[in-house]
Amino acid sequence: MSGRPFLQIPGPTNVPERILRAMARPVIDHRGPEFAALTQEILPGMQQVFRTAKGAVVIYPASGTGAWEAALVNVIRPGERVLSFNNGHFSAQFAQTARDLGIEVKEVALRWGQEVPPELVEEQLRANANQPIRAVLIVHNETSTGVTTDVKEIRRAIDAAGHDALLIVDTVSSLASIDFWFDEWGVDIALCGSQKGLMLPPGLGILCVGERAQAVAERGGSPRHFFDWRPVIRDNAAGFFPYTPATLLLFGLREALTMLFEEGFDNVLTRHQRLADGVRAAVAAWKLRPLGERPERLSNSLTAVVVPDGVSSNDVIRRARERFNLSLGVGLGRINGRVFRIGHLGALNELEVLATIAGTELALVECGVPIELGAGVTASQQLFARAAASLAVV
Ligand SMILES: Cc1ncc(COP(=O)(O)O)c(C=O)c1O
Repeated sequence: MSGRPFLQIPGPTNVPERILRAMARPVIDHRGPEFAALTQEILPGMQQVFRTAKGAVVIYPASGTGAWEAALVNVIRPGERVLSFNNGHFSAQFAQTARDLGIEVKEVALRWGQEVPPELVEEQLRANANQPIRAVLIVHNETSTGVTTDVKEIRRAIDAAGHDALLIVDTVSSLASIDFWFDEWGVDIALCGSQKGLMLPPGLGILCVGERAQAVAERGGSPRHFFDWRPVIRDNAAGFFPYTPATLLLFGLREALTMLFEEGFDNVLTRHQRLADGVRAAVAAWKLRPLGERPERLSNSLTAVVVPDGVSSNDVIRRARERFNLSLGVGLGRINGRVFRIGHLGALNELEVLATIAGTELALVECGVPIELGAGVTASQQLFARAAASLAVV
């Protein structure tokens, strides 16, 4: 098919040319001085992205799923309990990862479309006071539903319960797209992948580990080898890894960090907010609804759109792909067929959002959804024009 493919799933995201070029180079000796310098540039850059002064950044050749496992095995023993909230496919999978590792999971069922209510966290911690809970697992941005949980309030709830559980936060689809403050929000472990807000191909699982979690890992955790962060943190001090790192992806990560800081990290987050507002304006103009229940908790990195009864979202997705080379995200798990997801994170601008909305409109109309062609594009354009006016760009 001619023209460029429109990859608008909520990750992996489009990899900018600059990053592709930064990776298109000879592999270097990962035990040599050039590599050590690269590591020592990347780690402080990632600390800035996690917004931490003292948290240790640990990078594995893995994906987000590997990062889940790494976060758990370093601080939780088999048989110990963690608290989790099922508000979508990824929070459910995070909990399942823990169960598969022999960890006991107290899993609270929520509606898919809800955020994790902080008061429920406090209530659960108080109610389970006689059965120690070692960690609270939170998915900051639930990629299956397009809902963001307020991590700052979750920390407040843990503190209000007077509980010492670790706060482990999945930032796979929020880091570098949605505001996240590791230190200020009292997060103990944050985990991420390379393929979303960081604009890289899949292949890196990245953790940020606070001092308390590092102390717990010294005396606890599960049997582990590859994911043991202690030798990684030790060797990273000199710029090296205890295994062969994903050398070229790390060159890509250096370029991604340069791009994020050149744009201005706060500007990156504001851009995500603006593009998300544009997509939400289009969905409203279509008279469709997002799956997320509360407007103030809708995600800035993706929008899950509910299709009308009698329509399968899989047909809309297939149509978009086959006719326009536009990839939209499928409905995951129990919401398959009911929603499609528009990814609006990573390297993205207004024009690309408008093209995505235009293609989605055509796919919807061709699948018999009664929307007005152009309504979403116009609503989105109007929003972008207003945003530009308020910034005095025009
Ligand atoms: C919030 C969240 N957590 C975890 C994962 C799993 O990451 P991966 O597919 O990179 O293993 C994903 C993947 O999309 C995700 O969106």
